[in-house]
Amino acid sequence: MTQSLSFRPYDVRQEHEMNEPLDFNRWAQLKPVAKVFKAMITNVIRLTEMEKLFHLRIIDDTERERFSFLPGQFVMIEVPGYGEVPITVCSSTSNKGFIEVCVRKVGTVTSVLHRAGRGAKVGIRGPFGTHFPLERMKGHSILLIAGGLGLAPLRAPIFYVTENRSEFKDVHILYGTKSPDQELFDYQYESWRRIDGVDIRIIVEKPDERWKGPVGLITELLDDVTVDPNETYAIVCGPPVMFKFVCQRLNQMGIPMDRMFVSLERRMHCGMGKCCRCNVGSTYTCTDGPVFDYWTVMNLKEAI
Ligand SMILES: Cc1cc2nc3c(=O)[nH]c(=O)nc-3n(C[C@H](O)[C@H](O)[C@H](O)COP(=O)(O)OP(=O)(O)OC[C@H]3O[C@@H](n4cnc5c(N)ncnc54)[C@H](O)[C@@H]3O)c2cc1C
Ligand code: FES
Repeated sequence: MTQSLSFRPYDVRQEHEMNEPLDFNRWAQLKPVAKVFKAMITNVIRLTEMEKLFHLRIIDDTERERFSFLPGQFVMIEVPGYGEVPITVCSSTSNKGFIEVCVRKVGTVTSVLHRAGRGAKVGIRGPFGTHFPLERMKGHSILLIAGGLGLAPLRAPIFYVTENRSEFKDVHILYGTKSPDQELFDYQYESWRRIDGVDIRIIVEKPDERWKGPVGLITELLDDVTVDPNETYAIVCGPPVMFKFVCQRLNQMGIPMDRMFVSLERRMHCGMGKCCRCNVGSTYTCTDGPVFDYWTVMNLKEAI
């Protein structure tokens, strides 16, 4: 069930929207995505002190078969009795048996989820939101840039690009963390590095005694990357402060702002354009985003 949601509540300032048929809740469109899929945690992998990777398997065979998502989309995960949290799906879109989500323990719901083990049941709604336009990126070089937890939302695009390697030119994966012990998915770097035409570089701010790689900020990795700016797209995931510096640097390299894509985070409740919790001006992060091109973000007041 792949859906790119094109609806949102009427904007009363837009006259043409008021002329649409009177269906304020747009229930017909919302119904399919309002459904909660019952899912079981089938595996839990501790990635760092703060992050765990969960394998979630939708219990009903037919629903599991039908479920699909696009890289960059998120699901609402319900922990019964505690609440729901938006989390980006970080597995390969070609993986049909289960989805993977990487969850950082920050508060109430994520802490309970971190205590859950194999066999625990959760609810899943979605997938929601916009996705990284990887189809449009085909035939170009790709810069996949992440900081910290940003490697989680970047992982589905990485899988997509590496699984469809021949459809893209050079692929550069750049990842920065505070320290080596905060690196996510370190067990996968070698397999990505072995793919022809894929360059992966990792930088840390505070090395430990075993670290042999570069030390500094993620922007410094871009000093050694050569791409044709007119033939390149970039996906940047991480904390908002990183967007500013990385996207400025990409712009200096000549990459247009509408060819850089970022994923914005806001507190969310419904995930489908009904509750107005996630808005930036008249833009809803859950339906108009979370993936935006950087040009749009620059023109959205208080987006970052
Ligand atoms: C589209 C989207 C995708 C996301 N993907 C992931 C993911 O892949 N992995 C992951 O670990 N987290 C992700 N998050 C963030 C995650 O949803 C929050 O960490 C989670 O909702 C916190 O819930 P809680 O009940 O544990 O914390 P709470 O008890 O609700 O809050 C704990 C603290 O975290 C802050 N906080 C909560 N939610 C957010 C938020 N959305 N943005 C900024 N600060 C917040 C609160 O202000 C508070 O300080 C995503 C958020 C969005 C909007
Ligand atoms: S409108 Fe409810 S989360 Fe976006």
